[in-house]
Amino acid sequence: MVTVVTHPLVQHKLSVMRDVHTGVKEFRELASEVSLLLAYEAMRDLEVTQEEVTTPITTAEFPMLSGKKLALVAILRAGLIMTDSIVQLVPAAKVGHIGLYRDPETLGPVAYYNKLPTDIAERRVFLTDPMLATGGSASAAIASLKAAGATSIKLMCILAAPEGVAVIERDHPDVEIVVAAMDSHLNDHGYIVPGLGDAGDRIYGTK
Ligand code: URA
Repeated sequence: MVTVVTHPLVQHKLSVMRDVHTGVKEFRELASEVSLLLAYEAMRDLEVTQEEVTTPITTAEFPMLSGKKLALVAILRAGLIMTDSIVQLVPAAKVGHIGLYRDPETLGPVAYYNKLPTDIAERRVFLTDPMLATGGSASAAIASLKAAGATSIKLMCILAAPEGVAVIERDHPDVEIVVAAMDSHLNDHGYIVPGLGDAGDRIYGTK
């Protein structure tokens, strides 16, 4: 299932991110802000229970977060900006990192780094990668989360291509995707069109 967050604030910020003239500082700030807004939507179904709270006036029951604890997992390197920002909303969440590169011969994703919370199986996992392009990295990351025991996983992306969504839906139909926009297609170089370019380069100013 794909949830596209169509809120005008998200759409406006994303449009500015797309602009080739937007510099590193602004791009980074916008990526953080969009990530927070995506998390607001992705975490809409977190469980709450009524707990007693004493206000300065009286004591009554109010909703407080309950249920499974959370884990944020970044696909390196571009996913870092998303977890760094979302952890401000959920400061008790544990944070994991998965690094993948593409094997030049098989073209398949190969993990070079994998550090996950040891109790990941008991946590709701929010996996972050700004760009869901071919879906290869995200699918492999989800497979490694499942291998570590995770059973509740949402994938959060800023932009997705239909090709990437199809791969996740085929490989991991249980994983919901939360995204700010679905673009048209991938070009011959694997970039999302119209897209925003290379998210990692634009976040870190490496181009
Ligand atoms: N990764 C990016 O950073 N941008 C794309 O368009 C596709 C993959």
